[in-house]
Amino acid sequence: MVASAASTEQSVADPNDVEKIDTPVRIAVIVGSTREDRFGPVPANWIADQARKHEGMEVESVDLADYECPAVMGGDDPDAPLPDRVAELGERLARADGFVVVTPVYNRSYPASLKNAIDWLYSEWQLKPVGFVSYGGITGGLQAIDALRDVFTEFHAVTLRDTITFANFWEVFDHDGRPVDTEGTAELADGFLAQLVWWTRSLREARSKRPYPHAG
Ligand SMILES: Cc1cc2nc3c(=O)[nH]c(=O)nc-3n(C[C@H](O)[C@H](O)[C@H](O)COP(=O)(O)O)c2cc1C
Repeated sequence: MVASAASTEQSVADPNDVEKIDTPVRIAVIVGSTREDRFGPVPANWIADQARKHEGMEVESVDLADYECPAVMGGDDPDAPLPDRVAELGERLARADGFVVVTPVYNRSYPASLKNAIDWLYSEWQLKPVGFVSYGGITGGLQAIDALRDVFTEFHAVTLRDTITFANFWEVFDHDGRPVDTEGTAELADGFLAQLVWWTRSLREARSKRPYPHAG
């Protein structure tokens, strides 16, 4: 069992990490929707494949459907153990240096499955970069991303300005789950992933070298 930290006091420099500065960054691609018949794995697999081709990245797919994060959370005891599956999710996310969150838009925001997983954890997200891939109707899920930016601010995370949004996503991917515009989407991914690597390296180095200051 793993207890999750709930304050910035946990985010101190780890001198052992200094050696890792030039090693590949570890990116977790998170599938945010969990409903039956969901589309989420399609864009998630696509961006994970693009990332695997990208230099300097080790990629892991983390599907929230594989983790049962209870809708009812525990009490106020910060040392209380997390439910096993939440702890396992936390361990996988803690290993990541940065994230790609793949989200649909549900009623002008992001799905409850994503909020629930985010809320169960804390230090796992802290001071790490987060890039977004969204999909939806005419807005391409941009509303979900905007709402998520606000949430990740709580963790002193850095959300990438540039995003990948798939408007009318059913027109974007073919029946095999591949984008119809292979080259255009690959080019988009390339720039997005290059920025993600830049932020991931920068924040990993900063976390390992300098303790994060406490405000106030
Ligand atoms: C509860 C719910 C709310 C939705 N709200 C919106 C919305 O506000 N705007 C939109 O463009 N699409 C909306 N959709 C359509 C989703 O973008 C579409 O169903 C998509 O496939 C959902 O992602 P998923 O299949 O990975 O769950 C909604 C879908 C659901 C299930």
